[in-house]
Amino acid sequence: MIFAKNLTPHTQPHPFLKWAGGKRQLIPQMNIFFPKNYNRYIEPFIGGGAVFFHLLPDDSIISDNNPDLINCYRVVKQDVEGLIKSLKIHKYEKDYYYEIRALDRDRKKYAELSDVEKASRSIYLNKSGYNGLYRVNSKGFFNVPFGRHKNPNICDEENLRKVSQVLKNVKIYLGSFEICLDFAEKNDFVYLDPPYYPLSDTALFTSYTKKSFDRSSQIKLFEVFKELNNRECNILLSNSYSDFILDLYNDFKIVTLKAKRNINSNSKKRGLIKEVLILN
Ligand SMILES: C[S@@+](CC[C@H](N)C(=O)[O-])C[C@H]1O[C@@H](n2cnc3c(N)ncnc32)[C@H](O)[C@@H]1O
Repeated sequence: MIFAKNLTPHTQPHPFLKWAGGKRQLIPQMNIFFPKNYNRYIEPFIGGGAVFFHLLPDDSIISDNNPDLINCYRVVKQDVEGLIKSLKIHKYEKDYYYEIRALDRDRKKYAELSDVEKASRSIYLNKSGYNGLYRVNSKGFFNVPFGRHKNPNICDEENLRKVSQVLKNVKIYLGSFEICLDFAEKNDFVYLDPPYYPLSDTALFTSYTKKSFDRSSQIKLFEVFKELNNRECNILLSNSYSDFILDLYNDFKIVTLKAKRNINSNSKKRGLIKEVLILN
């Protein structure tokens, strides 16, 4: 890997997408729990990849079940120059945003776009849309409104090129989290950052894609956690500080972290919310 792990934040590649539940702010609290030595790094809910970009592991496997997201990682890896060229065409304008957003409404036409064009659209919508959210409706259509940014950096060329370099040795898969069991072996480090179990019935932001991550998904993930533990992997798992999660992982070590999150509909009101980090 060409990047040393002690580079300053200005020179180190960083997430190229803003992603709900991003772990960037929690890294100072998580740092002491990252294993010092491990073989491969495996992250099956990669999202924006804050932990991955912090660690810059030499040998790694990343995956997610969001096809638009995984297409972005693959295009950044394989054709960053084509992507940069395409991103430079976009404009931060409301009508233009809704035109680009509407491209997925015609499934046939959308399927005809190249992977570079699809990734360019996804990154543009992420940088220009409200709060960098990724949200699709029941038909699978992207439905985040135009955002209120001053001057969004739609094409951060320098960072995209650095990320592309970093991804050269990374294996990238599209699929549900169970896929990690196809690879994980003794002494691998597996970081699991699923959609959180909701703290209340109204706090239902569990849907990053059409299929939501419900109670039964959390239980399936717990089965995967136990299997990884049997294989003697180093595991870290993030989740909400909720009775359900605390009970489920009762036999493992649970650490409490504090995160700044929007606590109600007014995004200016941010409070400190407890979260858990579970270790084996
Ligand atoms: C909390 S986010 C991860 C955030 C990430 N750690 C970051 O720093 O940006 C959860 C991710 O899980 C993905 N996801 C949801 N259900 C999944 C599933 N069944 N299998 C794999 N990934 C899933 C979502 O697409 C989303 O990217």
